[in-house]
Amino acid sequence: MNVNIGLAKENLERKGFLDIEIDPTLDLFEEIAKLKNEKNAVLLAHYYQEPDIQDVADYIGDSLGLAQQAEKTNADIIVFAGVHFMAETAKILNPTKKVLLPDLHAGCSLSDSCPPLLFKAFKDKHPDHIVISYINCSAGIKALSDIICTSSNAKQIVESLPAEQKIIFAPDKNLGAYINKTTGRNMVLWNGACMVHEIFSLEKITRLKERHPEAKMIAHPECEEAVLKIADFIGSTTQLLKYTQHSGFDSFIVATEAGILHQMQLSSPDKTFIPAPPNNACACNDCPHMKLNTLEKLYLCIKYEQPEILMDEELRLLAKKPISKMLDMSKELGII
Ligand code: 13P
Ligand code: SF4
Repeated sequence: MNVNIGLAKENLERKGFLDIEIDPTLDLFEEIAKLKNEKNAVLLAHYYQEPDIQDVADYIGDSLGLAQQAEKTNADIIVFAGVHFMAETAKILNPTKKVLLPDLHAGCSLSDSCPPLLFKAFKDKHPDHIVISYINCSAGIKALSDIICTSSNAKQIVESLPAEQKIIFAPDKNLGAYINKTTGRNMVLWNGACMVHEIFSLEKITRLKERHPEAKMIAHPECEEAVLKIADFIGSTTQLLKYTQHSGFDSFIVATEAGILHQMQLSSPDKTFIPAPPNNACACNDCPHMKLNTLEKLYLCIKYEQPEILMDEELRLLAKKPISKMLDMSKELGII
């Protein structure tokens, strides 16, 4: 089969409508709510979106939760406040819907670290391995994979496979190494990483822990091994949020993208959340891709129904297979 696995990038050109000026007197929260209603649109937002976007969303979640919502929605339009691979996953799962992404340039360093043609050559060198890919990858990589996983289900999916099964894990070497360590597997890892989760400073976190001995250090498995080693709890964004709600502790050092702090603080207003410091002078640990989406772009995107995610049908069908496999396995394993 000769499918163009790089095709998903084809529609990354911006349409120009984002330069339209918005009447400064408009209440964008109200306008977005009105447009969503008029157009039967659902707004799905990742936890890493800016607080204003989270506040107008119909559903806020991690990658697994968002994929499930995208698959089952009855809305005519899915407005995806997240990054490109997430909106693409929504289109793959629910192709009759119009899927919109407020800024088509909202990419992902982790996804970009795994170009399909290079990965195909890597895969060909390991013909007796199956491929498990983290959902943070392009449709081209999904089409080359046997099973997709997210940080919420990766460990259980790997554990459910026979011990002798040889596995390539892509694209995140940190998540892959974490799963190798916790399951005793020896998966072959693609050398990719997330720019946000790799930037945390072990030294600064250690100092912060000394200053706040009562605080629990919680980390996303995309962080480097040295940071994960000193974490009290490791989990996907949803699992981290739940830990802050139900663990009984009152103070947390949070080693993941800073957007999640909004929901943590909203659901536990009396608890203390300290963002883990990055190893540069910048005080923030925001994902620059996630943060390309703004309330203004979101408003224009719903109003003009652009930019839209478009996909080659042959590629979509190939990419859908391993995502459906993940959703089926997650149901069988009682994760969703
Ligand atoms: P989860 O949504 O699975 O926690 O992954 C975090 C992330 O980096 C999304 O880009
Ligand atoms: Fe990609 Fe990392 Fe940003 Fe998530 S936080 S979208 S993995 S760059």
